[in-house]
This record gives sequence, structure tokens and C-alpha cells, in this order.
Amino acid sequence: MNIDVLTLFPEMFPGILNESILKRAQENKKAKVSIHDMRNWTHDARKTVDDKPFGGGPGMVIKPEPVFEACDDLCKKNSYVILLTPQGEKFNQAMAKELSSKKRILMICGHYEGFDERIRKIADKEISIGDYVLTGGEIPAMVLIDAVIRLIPGVLGEESSLDDESFNDGLLEYPQYTRPRVFRDMEVPPVLLSGDHKKVAKWRSEQALKRTQEKRKDLLKEEINNGKEK
Ligand code: ADE
Repeated sequence: MNIDVLTLFPEMFPGILNESILKRAQENKKAKVSIHDMRNWTHDARKTVDDKPFGGGPGMVIKPEPVFEACDDLCKKNSYVILLTPQGEKFNQAMAKELSSKKRILMICGHYEGFDERIRKIADKEISIGDYVLTGGEIPAMVLIDAVIRLIPGVLGEESSLDDESFNDGLLEYPQYTRPRVFRDMEVPPVLLSGDHKKVAKWRSEQALKRTQEKRKDLLKEEINNGKEK
């Protein structure tokens, strides 16, 4: 997968891209992430990317020209263009899964007070990472990059670990334990030590459901609305 990111702050990215699983995924050629400075597509000495809003009002607005010109250069026929904005569809695991099958993604990070409305036209999808306003789309782009790359086949050591994780089947993950059996008077549930795989599987699915009911009832409602009532 190729991910291009168009941003005013390219220096924000190397930290997360050069650590852990994202670093390994790039070394193993599962993903190539290229960060592009929007100012490279300006034509004046000051590399101006924003301007005052027509109609007046506070703040500055990102101009359409650098974004369209960058997209002309970076977009291939099969590029999927994402605009990060608080007005977008709220990001979730199902979207991450869908994006993990794309060959090329271009992420456009907005900044300042906003961007020229015409920029929306080049986006295949507008995505928000939640109902709060950040200073720009850089952190949301990093969230997407992380959530998507780890789902590319072969990126995580054990593929099967993806099957059991939270949100995979619309539920939170069951509780996990490791040694010691007893820690500060807290015991590991005996069923996990029973060696009975069927019993363990049943306990885990009950726990996942119970957890979701206790902590995230909204997820269960979503599943029911999607016709996946179990
Ligand atoms: N830009 C600013 N806030 C954002 C958010 N919550 N999601 C995506 N992009 C953003």
C-alpha cells in the first residue's frame, strides 16, 4: 500500500513512522508512507498556502491551488483521496478494515480555521476521528495510518490476533491474563487454567458480550441496527 500525506507540518510525522510496527511494515515493504509539504506546490517567494476568507471573518483559509496542484502530481488513477476534517464521517474499525485493502491513499490534512470549500471536491471521503476539534488533520492522519497499516496482511506477526481484538465483531475484547496466577490477591479466572478449549472460548465470548454491555452499550445497538443481532 502507498500512503501519501499532504500537510503543512511534515516534521510532525517521522516520530510515529519510525517506531515499532509502522517502521517494520515499511521496512518489509508492506506499506510506503510519503509525507509531502503542501508549500512545495506554491509559486510565491513566501510559499503562501492560505488567505483571508471572502465575506470577512476571523482566521485564514487554505487556498485551493496548492492542494489541487499537489493532487494533480500525486494522485494516480487508483488513488483514494481522504480529507481529514471534523465534518467527516466518524472513523471506526470497519473503515480501517476497508481502507487496508486500498492500493493507494492520499490523505489531505487541513489546518488553521479551515480550507476553501472547493477542496472537498477532490476527496473521495471526508473522515473525522471524533467529535472534537484539533489544530489540524495531522494527528487524525497518523491515527488512520496506524489503524490501517496494522491491518494489512502480514504486518502483525500473528494474523489470528486480529480475529479476537476489540471491535472486530462489533464487541470489545474479552479480558486477558498472564502469569502469575495470583497477583496481590487477584486471581486468574480458573476456567482459563482448565485446559478445556471449548469452555475457554465460551467464557471469552460471554465476557466480550458482558463487557460491551457494561462499557459500550452503543456498540450493541449498532450491531442490532446492522441486523447482526446474535
Ligand atoms: N481536524 C481537526 N479536527 C479533526 C478531527 N476531529 N478529525 C479529523 N480532522 C480534524
